[in-house]
Amino acid sequence: MSKQSPLPIVVLISGNGSNLQAIIDAIHSGDITGEIKAVISNRAGVYGLERAQRHGIPVEVIDHTQFDSREKFDAELMQRIEVYKPELVVLAGFMRILTDNFIRHFEGRMLNIHPSLLPNFRGLNTHQRALDAGVDYHGCSVHFVTSKLDGGPVIIQSKISVLDNDDVESLTTRVVHQEHIIYPLAVSWYCTGRIKMNNNQVYMDNKPLMQAIMADELPIKVTAK
Ligand code: GAR
Repeated sequence: MSKQSPLPIVVLISGNGSNLQAIIDAIHSGDITGEIKAVISNRAGVYGLERAQRHGIPVEVIDHTQFDSREKFDAELMQRIEVYKPELVVLAGFMRILTDNFIRHFEGRMLNIHPSLLPNFRGLNTHQRALDAGVDYHGCSVHFVTSKLDGGPVIIQSKISVLDNDDVESLTTRVVHQEHIIYPLAVSWYCTGRIKMNNNQVYMDNKPLMQAIMADELPIKVTAK
């Protein structure tokens, strides 16, 4: 049987790019059958760009402050992404609200990681808001991007306990660690065709996923393929 060819991916970032790094590492280790064709940032000089360059991945900066409307920025971004003909667009700490046009264009082939157990704490400052709300559990979610902000159907989540002495920093560290586990996993499933979205519904192995997969319920030593 012939080996599956790597799925072309474009990753969008705004900053540190540690999730990008986790995905690069999973490609290198063979856990993701994908190839990152380009990394695009809306901010110049961010560390994520350096990470990509170190691995020989083409990078582009499209500075959103140079556009006088969200529509114009998104139109340019869409055009730049399409140059690489990706079959998957991965938002990895991309801190921009996207227009409906853009989202419709990539719907079903765009994933995002969000630092909360969705539907809790959509939007920003999720760790502080989790602390303020006094929740027992916090975590992160990978979801398909739809026009509802942080509201697309969730594929996988990872949960951590919130401890009495937690602050934003400690929560960030533990949640990001979980992100680096579940995002590469979800990307690998997408690349091998195991997950899809149709009419706002996630399908895993062609069956509707009735609720998000919880990372801690996966078999030990789960492999990405
Ligand atoms: C991650 O925690 C990610 O969940 C969050 O930004 C961070 C990026 O870290 N994304 C969002 O808040 C999206 N709304 P990274 O640049 O090191 O991957």
